Amino acid sequence: MSVGALEGKSAIVTGAASGIGEAIADAFATEGAQLLLSDLQADRLEAAKNRYDRAGVAASTATVDVTDADQTRAMVDQCLSEFGAVDVLVNSAGILNEVALVDMDVATWDHMIAVDLRSVFLCCRWAAPHMVNRGSGRIINIASQLGIKGAEGLVHYCAAKAGVIGLTKALARELAPQGVLVNAIAPGPIETPLVDGLTDTWKQAKEAELPLRRFGHAIEVAPSAVLLASNPGGNLYVGQVLGPNSGDVMP
Ligand SMILES: NC(=O)c1ccc[n+]([C@@H]2O[C@H](COP(=O)([O-])OP(=O)(O)OC[C@H]3O[C@@H](n4cnc5c(N)ncnc54)[C@H](O)[C@@H]3O)[C@@H](O)[C@H]2O)c1
Repeated sequence: MSVGALEGKSAIVTGAASGIGEAIADAFATEGAQLLLSDLQADRLEAAKNRYDRAGVAASTATVDVTDADQTRAMVDQCLSEFGAVDVLVNSAGILNEVALVDMDVATWDHMIAVDLRSVFLCCRWAAPHMVNRGSGRIINIASQLGIKGAEGLVHYCAAKAGVIGLTKALARELAPQGVLVNAIAPGPIETPLVDGLTDTWKQAKEAELPLRRFGHAIEVAPSAVLLASNPGGNLYVGQVLGPNSGDVMP
C-alpha cells in the first residue's frame, strides 16, 4: 500500500484561501496531511473546508490576521489542540502593491512590512518552541525572487521579501541542530490574484524579461513545498531558497 509523503503530518498554511497557499494546502492534502487553513478571507476558507470534508481530508480553519501577535499565537494553539502537533508551518499570506518610493506614504511601507515580514516572524515565534520541544518540524516561508533581485515600484515588497530570506537563513542556523528545518521558496511571477495589483505595463515587461517568457501557476510552486516538508526528500535542505521562478533569478 502506498502512503502519501505527508501522511499523519499536521500543517498550518497561512494565506490558504488563495493562490500559492491554496495550492500548497491542496498538495499537502493529496499527500495525506491534516490541515489548519489560515487566512483573512473566512468565506473562502469555509469553501475550502467543505471541499476537503467531501474528500475526506481532515481540515480546520482559522480566520486570522497574520500581522496580529495574539491571533497568530491562537492559530498555533488551535493546531496543537485539534491535531496534537504542528509538524509543518507554511507562511504564504502576503500582499503586493506597486508604488514608487517618492510617492510612498509611511503607512503603505509599514503595512507591507507587517503583512509580508512581521507575520513570518510571529508565526515562527509561536510554532518554533513546540517544534524544538519535539525535536522535529519544518518551516517553509514564501519569499519572492524580487527579494533577491529588486524591482521598480516595489521597494517595500522587495525589502520585506529580502527580510524573509534573511530571517529564514538565520532561523535555519538556530533551529537545525534541534531538528527543525527552515527554508524558503522564492517564486517568480505566478498567476494569482496577488499580481492583479500590478499594472499591465509592469507585467508585460516582466514576461519579456523571463527566460521562460511566461508567468507560472500556483500548482507549479506547490511541489517545492511538498519536497521541503517531506522525509527523506527535504531532510538535507537547511536555510535554502528554492526558486520556481521561470529563470528570472539564477543564484
Ligand atoms: N503571485 C506571485 O507572483 C508571487 C511571486 C512571488 C512570491 N509570492 C508570494 O506568495 C505568497 C502568496 O501569494 P499569492 O500569489 O498566492 O497571493 P494571493 O493574493 O492569491 O494569496 C495571498 C493570501 O494572503 C491572504 N492575506 C493577505 N493579507 C493577510 C493578512 N493580513 N492576514 C492573513 N491573510 C492575509 C489573502 O487573503 C490571500 O488569501 C505571498 O507571500 C506572495 O508575496 C507571490
